[in-house]
Amino acid sequence: MRIVVLRAFRPSLLIVVHKPVAVGGLCGLGGLGSELCERDWLRCGDAAFLRPGWALPSDMTTPSASTSGSNPSFNPGSNSGSNPGSNFGSGAHKPRPFVGGNWKMNTDRASGLALAKAVAAATKPLEEAMDVAIFPPFVYLPLISQALCDAGSKVMLGAQDCYIAEKGAFTGEVSIGMLKDVGVSAVLVGHSERRHIMHEGDDFVTAKVDFVLAAGLTCVLCIGEKLEQRVTGQTDHINELQLERGLKHTKVEQLSKLVVAYEPVWAIGTGKTATPQDAQSAQAHIRTVLAEMFGKEAASTVRIQYGGSMTAANAATLMAEQDINGGLLGGASLKIEDFTAICQAAAASVKA
Ligand code: 13P
Repeated sequence: MRIVVLRAFRPSLLIVVHKPVAVGGLCGLGGLGSELCERDWLRCGDAAFLRPGWALPSDMTTPSASTSGSNPSFNPGSNSGSNPGSNFGSGAHKPRPFVGGNWKMNTDRASGLALAKAVAAATKPLEEAMDVAIFPPFVYLPLISQALCDAGSKVMLGAQDCYIAEKGAFTGEVSIGMLKDVGVSAVLVGHSERRHIMHEGDDFVTAKVDFVLAAGLTCVLCIGEKLEQRVTGQTDHINELQLERGLKHTKVEQLSKLVVAYEPVWAIGTGKTATPQDAQSAQAHIRTVLAEMFGKEAASTVRIQYGGSMTAANAATLMAEQDINGGLLGGASLKIEDFTAICQAAAASVKA
């Protein structure tokens, strides 16, 4: 009963923060165990969800970084030269970096908890400079929400997917309301593994973007071409299509909650990273498409992450590029040393 009272007062941050509420009624949910109830994670998660640090800051710009570095990366049909810039100019301000760790279907209760705590500790000194999110498997979200809260961390808690209905007979699915309920503030949409392994189509992706943004959460829209599309010169075309379809209903005022993750499918989990030049070329084009859809000024504030075998060794060179504003990491997000080094590189990428 007391949970119902809390939900009714949710719009008020002060009530949620200052009035402890017992959550014993949640103990049976999802087999989460009694320790979560003792920790009152729901109250903490709600407060954290509303923290300013969990939303994109209104001032998302930081000084520009230089473009430099050697290039040990994979190059299957280079796009370099065809689109060197987004016409925003190399002196343009870069948006605040955003690094996400997509844990995919990895970790267990103990290792996930340990990793989340380590991420919270390691990224504390970087909070002023950048945003960090982790995307654990659904079942560990409440546990990790609590851990981030206990650590006083600004690391955003993200979900790897969501469903496009609030509730009902959708066996196996998880709604945005449920995600918000446990402190999630960002959701991955259209990840290539969902598009290509789970066969999620464009309309489904569009609907998910609409649901996430309508709920006021940060939407990380993942796009990217397959190998055969790159070698046949279709990279920009595919990104254009996926962007235009995914953002079909998105309004300019929702862009502060949008992050685009450019993840070439052939680079994901393969160890074959795009060259900084190829990634920049694709991402510059993505920004140009955003500018056509929403105007140049709005487009200039959108964070565009690169994802696909980003490592501690190649992150700095990639993120030195004008339109690479962070990374979405799979494998490297599971190793705290690598994840930390990549976050540090992201923070450094916008230093004058
Ligand atoms: P890897 O970093 O393992 O290539 O995965 C990237 C990814 O898919 C992040 O969403």
